[in-house]
Amino acid sequence: MQRIFSGIQPTGIPHLGNYLGAIRNWVKLQDDHDCIYCAVDLHAITVAHDPKTLAQATREMVAALLASGIDPQPSIVFHQSAVTAHLRLAWIFECVVRIGWLNRMTQFKDKAGKDRENVSAGLYTYPALMAADILAYHATRVPVGDDQRQHLELANDIGQKFNFDFCGGEPFFPLIEPVILGPAARVMSLRDGAKKMSKSDPSDQSRINLTDDADTIVLKIRRAKTDPQPLPSEPAGLEGRPEARNLVGIYAALEDIDHAAVLREYGGRGFGDFKGALSALLVAKLSPIADEMRRLLADPATIDAILRDGAQRAAALADPIVQQAERLVGYLRV
Ligand code: AMP
Ligand code: TRP
Repeated sequence: MQRIFSGIQPTGIPHLGNYLGAIRNWVKLQDDHDCIYCAVDLHAITVAHDPKTLAQATREMVAALLASGIDPQPSIVFHQSAVTAHLRLAWIFECVVRIGWLNRMTQFKDKAGKDRENVSAGLYTYPALMAADILAYHATRVPVGDDQRQHLELANDIGQKFNFDFCGGEPFFPLIEPVILGPAARVMSLRDGAKKMSKSDPSDQSRINLTDDADTIVLKIRRAKTDPQPLPSEPAGLEGRPEARNLVGIYAALEDIDHAAVLREYGGRGFGDFKGALSALLVAKLSPIADEMRRLLADPATIDAILRDGAQRAAALADPIVQQAERLVGYLRV
């Protein structure tokens, strides 16, 4: 069985983009893969964060994963700071990655904005840690949303350079394959079809949070930006209509159908009708997850026990691989 690894930052309640682009696919992949899923708290501190809320945000993210259907047995669910192998391999990878490669990362450019000289060095080297997360397990498939594609290409460049520099080209680190699935691999903001839905958007109206109640979901969808035309009857008609494409993609992903099937039903109808159907579908799919999250969060000791067990099983897989990488680099062993 191929090994899957993926991570999500514990920086607040996950939103519909996280769910449709990533978490939902993580759930499905459990059927035929060995899966390792990680709340990446080391990545979360690359930007300003509140130390008083990080631990609880980590539990909340884990509760969201469990409530969505991730099964901590046989899958592994843990938080990154509990397994030091990630950091040992990340340091080696920081010494393998070239500054020129990091300079090309669009996520860094977006997050740093105009204030490049004043962001943390960790934000800059973030992709080396991400490569270490995956390759410490020799994982070969990584389910993510479309925005992470460039980071995965870089992870392969790092793994291959390590193999070339320290293993005479032998494939010690395997090539990894992005798994980017479904009609909603990039969910856009409800307020602006050109921006991706994001936890860091200052407007809460721009996203659906997994814990939003039914009234909030209905209101956010009713206010979502659209254009005045009715829906087209074929996907080609979504060209140049980013907001319409986004809402149709969300509907398609939730129903597990494609854009064309949605438009066969709603083509020619106005957004009033379609938004009503979309909010009903969202409420039906998301409210059981929110209820289960609340139930899990009422019992933090159980979440912590799952994380302790997950960290132990993760470390047992990663430690021998990272020790071998350290041997290949040539550290003194005494
Ligand atoms: P993050 O919240 O940045 O840690 O992202 C966690 C996962 O959600 C990653 O696999 C992302 O690619 C995915 N993701 C984040 N935002 C979106 C979005 N707007 N649409 C689809 N996937 C997303
Ligand atoms: N960078 C990813 C994001 O922001 C999160 C992440 C960290 C990740 N390590 C990973 C995703 C390893 C996949 C595999 O979404």
